[in-house]
Amino acid sequence: MLLDPTKSEAVAYDTVAFPTAPVVQTHPARLAAMASLHGIAAADPATASVLEIACGDGMNLLAMAVAAPEASFTGFDLSPAAVARGQQRAAAAGLGNIALEVRDLLDAGESLDGQFDYIVAHGLYAWVPGAVREAVFPLIGRLLAPNGIAFVSYNTLPGGHFRMAVRDLMRHFVPADADPATMLRTAREVLTEFAPPQPDDGPAMAAYRHHASLTLQQPDALLFHDELGREYHPQLHSEVCAAAERAGLIFLADSGRGRFDDGFLPEEVAAESDVHAQIARLAQERDFMKLRYFRRSLFARAEAEPRRTLEPGAARGLWAASRCTREGDGWRGNEGGEFAVKDPLLAAALDRLAEARPGRLPIADLGLDDDRIRSLLHLFDLGAVELFAAAAPFTTIPPERPAVSPLVRAMLGEGLDVVCTLDHSVLRVDDPALRAFLGGLDGSRDAGGLEALATESRFAEPAQWRAALDIALRKALIMPAA
Ligand SMILES: C[S@@+](CC[C@H](N)C(=O)[O-])C[C@H]1O[C@@H](n2cnc3c(N)ncnc32)[C@H](O)[C@@H]1O
Repeated sequence: MLLDPTKSEAVAYDTVAFPTAPVVQTHPARLAAMASLHGIAAADPATASVLEIACGDGMNLLAMAVAAPEASFTGFDLSPAAVARGQQRAAAAGLGNIALEVRDLLDAGESLDGQFDYIVAHGLYAWVPGAVREAVFPLIGRLLAPNGIAFVSYNTLPGGHFRMAVRDLMRHFVPADADPATMLRTAREVLTEFAPPQPDDGPAMAAYRHHASLTLQQPDALLFHDELGREYHPQLHSEVCAAAERAGLIFLADSGRGRFDDGFLPEEVAAESDVHAQIARLAQERDFMKLRYFRRSLFARAEAEPRRTLEPGAARGLWAASRCTREGDGWRGNEGGEFAVKDPLLAAALDRLAEARPGRLPIADLGLDDDRIRSLLHLFDLGAVELFAAAAPFTTIPPERPAVSPLVRAMLGEGLDVVCTLDHSVLRVDDPALRAFLGGLDGSRDAGGLEALATESRFAEPAQWRAALDIALRKALIMPAA
């Protein structure tokens, strides 16, 4: 029997597993924060209903679900192997607030009902055939709650042209009917030969080769699915906005770093009669000017009428966390960039946030006036500060009987060396003794029990439990006391 071309995605994802992981920008506490800056009262993340379209093995939803037991999570994906993996993990972690299903997006229009406060479609839109892509926004438009927020990520143009050139190069040499191992080997051989700079390269060739060398650095699963996969359709932001609009949705903002401003009209620009269309057009212009490759766009219902001017007061109901460290008179952001903060009150607020890290502090408690909150929002745009619509679902203060989440214990029980943290990221745990210790943190042990656990875990010294617990606290692994 010939392969059904609309199902070939499932075959590919069953053959080579895709490494799903928590995606911070999709977390409801962050989406709700973005919504409230736009004057939309999105649902409380602690009790919200969340849908993920094409959730793979559901790792993103599992990590949300374990930290929000009163909220409900639904995910579907075409790949039976991925969904089965996620269902087993959810069962092992005892999560009763998540349902993962095998479902084709093309059927979901008729078969999936309900209303969801947050809908996520990450890594799907630009990697599927046109018919599947065209089904994304109609489904969101049908299922999104009135004040709901949808997250849709996609490859964008013009950056996609570069990626396309390297894809075409690899795919030309990779035999179409080859098995995954041969495809990957051939692609790496081609890139290894092509990527090194040559003396007579002009600027365009240098950029082409540079992009090839970046592609070569991709791990196998990403190289296979994202670069060699049959479907790759980078989008113009304006076309994505038009597809959303046909389903009654409008572009709210982008949740990627350096994109937050996309949702607001610059102060010096006068609003046009259709300010939402103007916002989408300006974002498209920035994509052209900045050679943008990827977007993590947020959409709301058109009736939600998002505010397009930045009102710092709206941030007072949010929580902030720091991603930066002080270095002398300056600061260094999480991803390396340095910046100076001359204002002593803002610097003091950053000091407090840095000290509380990974914990969150209410912005209302930071003693900042509107101008300083504007500066804080600028730091948010730079990625130096994070914003949330909810307090942290973890503790940074050692509880009497510490517990990691049941998801962490389930992942360690599977023999994995990565775990999901409660601030929605992943932590690699290479040390077997630390893995054993964390796996034993089930909330039943006091200080004496922890010392015994350290011995069982084969730490060199039983007293090392204190350092191990400190790591768990600093990495947002410890559940708040019940
Ligand atoms: C690149 S992966 C992304 C998975 C996950 N969202 C993530 O970000 O880790 C794309 C996913 O889309 C799923 N997919 C492709 N076509 C689909 C369809 N028609 N219906 C449902 N899922 C689909 C694949 O099975 C795969 O799990």
